[in-house]
Amino acid sequence: MLPEPTARLRFRPMTMADLDDVTALLTAPDPVPVDRPARTPDDAVRWIEWQERNYAKHDFGLWVVETHDGVLVGDCGLTVQDVEGTAEVEVGYHVLPALRRRGHAVEAATAVRDCAAAHGVTHLVALVRPDNTPSQGVARALGMEVEWTAYVHGGDALVFGCRLPLGS
Ligand SMILES: CC(C)(COP(=O)(O)OP(=O)(O)OC[C@H]1O[C@@H](n2cnc3c(N)ncnc32)[C@H](O)[C@@H]1OP(=O)(O)O)[C@@H](O)C(=O)NCCC(=O)NCCS
Repeated sequence: MLPEPTARLRFRPMTMADLDDVTALLTAPDPVPVDRPARTPDDAVRWIEWQERNYAKHDFGLWVVETHDGVLVGDCGLTVQDVEGTAEVEVGYHVLPALRRRGHAVEAATAVRDCAAAHGVTHLVALVRPDNTPSQGVARALGMEVEWTAYVHGGDALVFGCRLPLGS
């Protein structure tokens, strides 16, 4: 499965040919403080290998998001996350710092949300650290609300969620 293209963006599977771009995406200096060690080029290799496993196992993962001219914007897609023992489908998104605050994350994630609904996902979450204001803005724009706080990946996360299709 692959989300529909949007006015400015299109999706495609991530491959090892994207290593330089994915390294740039994951290791870019982040203006918002993060509570984990800086990512390395080796993390980018593991990131792509994780998506290749996701595509094979779930028919979804994080996809490359690029402009219709093929310029990398970031990644966005679906992964399965263990949230305190429950498997949840999460929408995830990363945008290159130079391209932020232009609505790219919401535009991409809206297409991903609608793709998830079309493929039968009935509950979508976004796991967001309490201090990640930008990500919370994206989650709210997708129609998600905080459902609870969970301990995931070594820290507290706000579990934003929504039922799909929206309004159901
Ligand atoms: C989170 C992220 C993907 C947002 O990307 P983006 O393309 O800048 O987001 P958008 O332009 O679509 O912004 C949508 C809304 O999010 C909120 N938002 C985005 N950046 C924000 C910021 N720096 N401060 C406050 N709110 C912000 C706003 O509500 C914004 O709407 P507005 O611009 O109309 O006010 C980007 O900041 C990023 O890549 N961060 C690092 C990776 C990350 O944290 N991913 C999420 C992990 S849970």
